[in-house]
Amino acid sequence: MLINNDTIIKDTDERIRQVSEDVELPLSAEDESLLRDMFQYVVDSTDEEKAEKFNLRPAVGISAIQVGVPKKMTAIVVDDTDKNGNPIRYEFMLVNPKIVSSSIQQAYLSAGEGCLSVVSEHEGYVPRSARVKVRAFDLVTNQYIEIRAAGYLAIVLQHELDHFKGILFYDHINAKDPYRQIPGAIEI
Ligand code: CO
Repeated sequence: MLINNDTIIKDTDERIRQVSEDVELPLSAEDESLLRDMFQYVVDSTDEEKAEKFNLRPAVGISAIQVGVPKKMTAIVVDDTDKNGNPIRYEFMLVNPKIVSSSIQQAYLSAGEGCLSVVSEHEGYVPRSARVKVRAFDLVTNQYIEIRAAGYLAIVLQHELDHFKGILFYDHINAKDPYRQIPGAIEI
């Protein structure tokens, strides 16, 4: 599937609010091909030359509903640092991911969140769980995995899994006081 900034569904299109369904495993050829195309989009989107040439907006994740397919599939590429401060790249092609536990402690991005499906500015803090445990089938490693995520990766996972419920990041922003402090939250 051709995925670029023109084909990605925006929040002005009500399909972005659709609830996604479980995907049958093993993956059909069609589902696998879509998930690989989504992953390639995310990888290419942070390559300046490719982004310019193919009209890609930089992203760390994309979910299938954003290309009009209401199925629980998401591709994520996150560059972060591990607990020793060394650079680490997380790459996932997740099928039917599910949050099985989440911390009470919250976290938020100080710069706010962005989304390929959101063009207009929505400033404010998006409260998320600081840590989540996610179970999924992962096409990168071709096995069932459990991800124990904290920090930025935890936020990206929650953002993408929200898309399965038709939820967008700004739904979580306090409308009256977008920068209201979140008690005990970790700022990222
Ligand atoms: Co998004």
